[in-house]
Amino acid sequence: MPFNQASLKQRLAGKFIGHHLHYYETIGSTNDEAVRLGMKGSPEGTALVAETQSAGKGRMRRAWHSPPGANIYTSIILRPQFEPDRAPQISLAAGVAVAETLNPYCPGDVCLKWPNDVLINEKKVCGILTQMKMSGSAIDFVVVGIGINVNWNHEQFPEDIQSMATSVSIEAGREISRLELIIRLYENMAKCYRELAQNGFAPIREKWLGLTSMIGKSISVMFQEEKVTGKAVGLDNDGALLLLTAGNETVKVSAGDATILKR
Ligand code: BTN
Repeated sequence: MPFNQASLKQRLAGKFIGHHLHYYETIGSTNDEAVRLGMKGSPEGTALVAETQSAGKGRMRRAWHSPPGANIYTSIILRPQFEPDRAPQISLAAGVAVAETLNPYCPGDVCLKWPNDVLINEKKVCGILTQMKMSGSAIDFVVVGIGINVNWNHEQFPEDIQSMATSVSIEAGREISRLELIIRLYENMAKCYRELAQNGFAPIREKWLGLTSMIGKSISVMFQEEKVTGKAVGLDNDGALLLLTAGNETVKVSAGDATILKR
């Protein structure tokens, strides 16, 4: 079923996220467009939704498959009043918001993988790409881009991601209303963002740690050509993953692709 644009606008009227809504049948990337709108001064809480993206962007310069009619591709403009080094906390808060949104569809099976993947039964269902624009030494705005595989069937997945990706409908065993899902997503994102702004990172960090299965496990993180391995022991204030290495040293990993080692 296509998104019902009129229902979406009506249901989001007056909401912090989505009151200012831009809907596109097709677009290159909602993140790229959100950056353009942010630079033109679009207000905090502006949301962009696309039925399909022709150049969807993932982390580490990867592409994000964005076929029409099945999934959610959205970007949200935020204008946080805090220091730029806290920006990664917004990505982690978005992960918590997505996990809390998906959990009722697949209770107990949703989990977070650092830095910002959401998994159901250990397969990736959502990716988050956060971009920040500065104004001098302060944050001008942050774009939180969220892609959720919602009603994608297994046969429709590109071969290269078939073994590691899933969709909400596959895991829940039924078709999912994208309209209901996106409305809950924006509500949860608004709640997590307000929590972060009002009470600092601690409550979001606790929620994040409660939603991940990484802590205590042996993890390796690849960033560019470098690989760091250790036991995941926590999250730092700036959102970095803390690893305890074999040499009993705690190292901070700020970016990269994490693998949970099966041993
Ligand atoms: C990842 O690599 O895991 C992040 C994927 C983020 C994809 C979303 S879809 C909506 C928004 N627009 C984009 O081009 N990317 C993000």
